[in-house]
Amino acid sequence: MEFTAPGKVILFGEHAVVYGQPAIAVPLSELRARAWVEPTRDGAGLVIHARDLGQRLTLGGDPAHQFSVAAQAVLARAGAPEPNATINLESAIPSAAGMGSSAATSTAICRALAAHLGTELSANTVSNIVFQAERGTPSGIDNTVVAHEEPVWFISGKPPRPFRSPARCHLVLGNTGIAASTGELVAGVRKRHDADPRLYDGYFAAIGALVRDARAALKEGELARVGELMDANHELLNTIGVGHSRLDELVTIARDAGALGAKLTGKGGGGNMVALTEGADGQAAVAQALTEAGYTAYETAFGGAT
Ligand code: MEV
Repeated sequence: MEFTAPGKVILFGEHAVVYGQPAIAVPLSELRARAWVEPTRDGAGLVIHARDLGQRLTLGGDPAHQFSVAAQAVLARAGAPEPNATINLESAIPSAAGMGSSAATSTAICRALAAHLGTELSANTVSNIVFQAERGTPSGIDNTVVAHEEPVWFISGKPPRPFRSPARCHLVLGNTGIAASTGELVAGVRKRHDADPRLYDGYFAAIGALVRDARAALKEGELARVGELMDANHELLNTIGVGHSRLDELVTIARDAGALGAKLTGKGGGGNMVALTEGADGQAAVAQALTEAGYTAYETAFGGAT
């Protein structure tokens, strides 16, 4: 049996969320990581086979790897010894692109291993295990939205609040094709913040204010306003130094093709741009413009009566 987990899109508030500001994120259910377990012979121990990477990890040989840390935590929860089994892993989520690939792959592994051991884990437990397995100082937004698979209003350290938008929101992601490290980007912001805390706390507060406005606009179904706020969030992300010229190019392509708003999503420094479009027709037009310019586009939607 297969266990899967979705990617994620941050609509508002990335980076500032690390400093206590709210963020809004939605799952990317069309792109998923999947894991399944095959029992193996006695003495083989637990092997995690990341098939896309052609990589085989063992708990003993790679104890610090995030997948091993997650698997160990599941074994501890289940009170089970290391089984003789291979966890196979595949993912359709581009890695290092700000789409939650790391959280989704860990989540799929946890679910597949728990089921193999005959243990049930709640979404909250999976989210906590995946958070502990992540390196660096993540805010917890990725594991939360991925493990719960619902739009969330998120403040670090507080229980995630499911987020509902009465209007159907159509999104297009455009991939710059540039891989970026979350750890390095978060560390860069930390360095600039620590060099001038008052300035950066001001930027983060401005981002927090527009995330709150965005929540109100989403609840009212004012999508044109949501788009404007995405544009404003993008500018502030450029200001704190996590932009990239390729991201600006994708944002311009999306806006020129009629998007209501567009911004980088996730860590930045490359990775993905997210655009809000006018309905499904607008979504097709923006996706086409990105594809014609040579970029990979992904379409997703949330909210409304599905
Ligand atoms: C990464 O998807 C989002 C960041 O805000 C980092 C984090 O929240 O841990 C950049």
